[in-house]
Amino acid sequence: MRVRNHIRIVTISLATTMVVGISISEEARKPGPHPPAQSLTSPLDMSDGSVRQGKQVFTRYCVTCHGMDGKGHTDMGDTLKAPPSDLTNGEWKYGGTDGEVMTLVRDGTDLGMPAFKEQMNEQRLWQVVHYLRTIGPEPGIDSPKADDAPENPIEFSLKSAGLGQRLYQRSCLKCHGVYGKGDTEMREFLPTHPSDLTNEQWTYGDEDGQIFNVIKDGTRYDMPAFAEELSDERIWHIVNYLRTLGPNPPEE
Ligand code: HEC
Ligand code: HEC
Repeated sequence: MRVRNHIRIVTISLATTMVVGISISEEARKPGPHPPAQSLTSPLDMSDGSVRQGKQVFTRYCVTCHGMDGKGHTDMGDTLKAPPSDLTNGEWKYGGTDGEVMTLVRDGTDLGMPAFKEQMNEQRLWQVVHYLRTIGPEPGIDSPKADDAPENPIEFSLKSAGLGQRLYQRSCLKCHGVYGKGDTEMREFLPTHPSDLTNEQWTYGDEDGQIFNVIKDGTRYDMPAFAEELSDERIWHIVNYLRTLGPNPPEE
């Protein structure tokens, strides 16, 4: 009788472990991009406060495996199925958008990255993502790249500028405004004000190729990169359109 009871308990606890095991492996992430999470964006802004708190979270929960510098050179790799990732090289096995990184930290992986959903609320999870952004490679350009500024292959014409205008209205107007003055309500949300594109003062250089680079690669200060969204050709049409916004629009 006793033995039977014992067996029953073992069976029950085995069953529970299996159920728990299954639900964990269902939620833990597989390598590769994770579309459902890609569109999630942080509700916190990238202020010092969130970065500082993210650093505290990181120091408390993550350094044992990923190291103080986030490069993953710790002994923990020996005890896990995979070495802890280098979180500073800009390469993301599980997808690199804010939403993908946040949910990865929340749900963990099958190869040793623990799930933190029990220890941390969503705010903490976003804070640590903000901190990770500060130890990775700097996105975007931070000064004019005159040397590798390409030549504009599309000669200015009203047709090209017209195409550029339509693309501008779709992708740029929200921040830079109808007339390109940058005086939009986005000023309240972005740490850096969208540039005035009409005054012929170009922080990142006034050559067509330099303006092209800024649109394609973005800047470190809140100008997004459009490399994924717009073909080179389309970006050149936009450059041609921007020329019409200044005080000395080109003639056809
Ligand atoms: C017990 C050790 C351990 C701890 C603690 C740990 N990690 Fe990990 N982490 C890993 C391992 C191992 C991997 C690689 C897993 C894999 O390849 O599936 C990983 C992978 C990751 C990845 C995926 C990187 C990529 O290339 O997509 C992120 C992001 C991450 N960790 C962030 C964190 C954060 C943030 C914390 C703290 C909240 C943390 N980790 C705590 C072991 C750990
Ligand atoms: C989310 C808001 C946002 C959107 C959308 C956006 N920009 Fe910007 N843009 C900015 C901000 C902010 C800056 C200032 C960045 C800086 O100083 O580093 C900027 C700067 C620029 C600059 C640099 C100006 C200079 O002085 O060198 C150019 C050119 C530019 N944007 C063009 C565009 C074009 C073209 C589009 C559409 C394809 C676009 N932007 C879409 C926010 C935006």
